[in-house]
Amino acid sequence: MNVLVVYCHPSKESFTYRIFESFLKGLSTANHSVVVSDLYSMNFQTDMSLEEYNREGFACIEKPLSDDVCIEQQKIQQADSIVFIYPVWWSDCPAKLKGWFDRVYSVGFAYGYDAQGHKQIKMKRQKLGLVLCTAGHSNEFLLQTGIAESMRKVMIDDRLGPRFESKQMHLFGGTINVNEVMDQHIHKAYEIGANLDGLINGID
Ligand SMILES: Cc1cc2nc3c(=O)[nH]c(=O)nc-3n(C[C@H](O)[C@H](O)[C@H](O)COP(=O)(O)O)c2cc1C
Repeated sequence: MNVLVVYCHPSKESFTYRIFESFLKGLSTANHSVVVSDLYSMNFQTDMSLEEYNREGFACIEKPLSDDVCIEQQKIQQADSIVFIYPVWWSDCPAKLKGWFDRVYSVGFAYGYDAQGHKQIKMKRQKLGLVLCTAGHSNEFLLQTGIAESMRKVMIDDRLGPRFESKQMHLFGGTINVNEVMDQHIHKAYEIGANLDGLINGID
């Protein structure tokens, strides 16, 4: 499969980076073809400009898109599946990744309607949308407090939504205190990458 990995963390010393590396090793074992958008390394602009807002807010799809947005959209069109890897920051993805959705999921590409009210989506429907996120809190805490469910609703139900056939979110929680958990998580990330095909049509 052609897999686009959208990775968002500023540090190569981070646990999230180790998850990313291990997952890529798994993908490589399974011979997937991989393109990475490393948002911090690319210095991807994630603030929406006034010009972009005027296109988005008033659905002026005839107005041109920025070059960096077009490049990301081309990567999406060439992918069969997209994987998002990031740390949970304040119970959501980092602002930089949120800004990727704000700008790359443009009107007429990822959402929108024509004058007759028909859906106008050019974005290629992906086989699999996978979300891998690390979190300081344990998975149990995130589940009990409802935060895991709120993150799942926003990422899986809304941002991935109908654009993906199969969707799955995996939390690598409890990273603040427990070192042994981290090794298990890193191994799990490898296994997920190596068995990506098995996730298609799996549970979300
Ligand atoms: C700005 C910031 C906000 C954070 N917010 C949360 C949070 O809301 N919930 C949580 O479980 N962990 C939170 N964390 C902890 C990170 O999720 C955790 O440190 C990260 O997933 C793993 O560490 P890494 O930065 O080495 O990759 C936060 C960390 C930072 C730096």
